[in-house]
Amino acid sequence: MQVSIRLTTTTDAHLLPDVERSSARAFLTQPGLAWIAADRVLDEAQHLGFIAAGLHWVAVDAGDKPVGFLAAERFGPELHIWELSVREEWQGRGIGRRLLAETCALAATAGLRAATLTTFRDVPWNAPFYAKVGFAILEGDEIDERLAKILAYERELGLPGERRCAMRRLITP
Ligand SMILES: CC(C)(COP(=O)(O)OP(=O)(O)OC[C@H]1O[C@@H](n2cnc3c(N)ncnc32)[C@H](O)[C@@H]1OP(=O)(O)O)[C@@H](O)C(=O)NCCC(=O)NCCS
Repeated sequence: MQVSIRLTTTTDAHLLPDVERSSARAFLTQPGLAWIAADRVLDEAQHLGFIAAGLHWVAVDAGDKPVGFLAAERFGPELHIWELSVREEWQGRGIGRRLLAETCALAATAGLRAATLTTFRDVPWNAPFYAKVGFAILEGDEIDERLAKILAYERELGLPGERRCAMRRLITP
């Protein structure tokens, strides 16, 4: 397997909705969450916004075709990861882990102090995976207003709130 990680370019953007749709097929195996496989994904314009801010990375195959991506946004000293996706047929080969590692390393050089995200508590490749790479679940007062708003918005979209959580990982230079 030859996969490398690089910053995403504008010419990658139109390929990324299909990557996310493919990745979401993982949820077909999850009781109560199979509908996510057919749910809306980030569109090309949204990807272009993250790319313009320089906070979007792709994992590409030997032909430079995206097989995974990570889209993030800066909020003060924190980097919020909005989406991490790896194509179904490329999952379980360490690509998600590499995308996260690369992102956090670059965030450290940019002086950021933490990375945050929201995810499912009980899906093996969500919170348990992020916990393995240094993210901790936030509970109660640890959830700041920004993350609380994201969790509330997700409930409005129909995601089961009791299964969602916010996580943070400190970034050390
Ligand atoms: C989450 C995702 C990006 C991880 O990418 P990946 O390349 O498959 O992950 P990796 O190969 O780096 O595996 C990292 C860890 O994820 C977990 N994991 C990945 N796939 C898994 C699966 N099918 N079943 C159980 N655990 C799995 C394991 O804990 C694994 O660690 P290990 O190698 O020590 O066992 C990918 O599974 C995906 O796109 N899933 C669908 C979309 C999604 O849930 N995105 C995250 C939204 S918060």
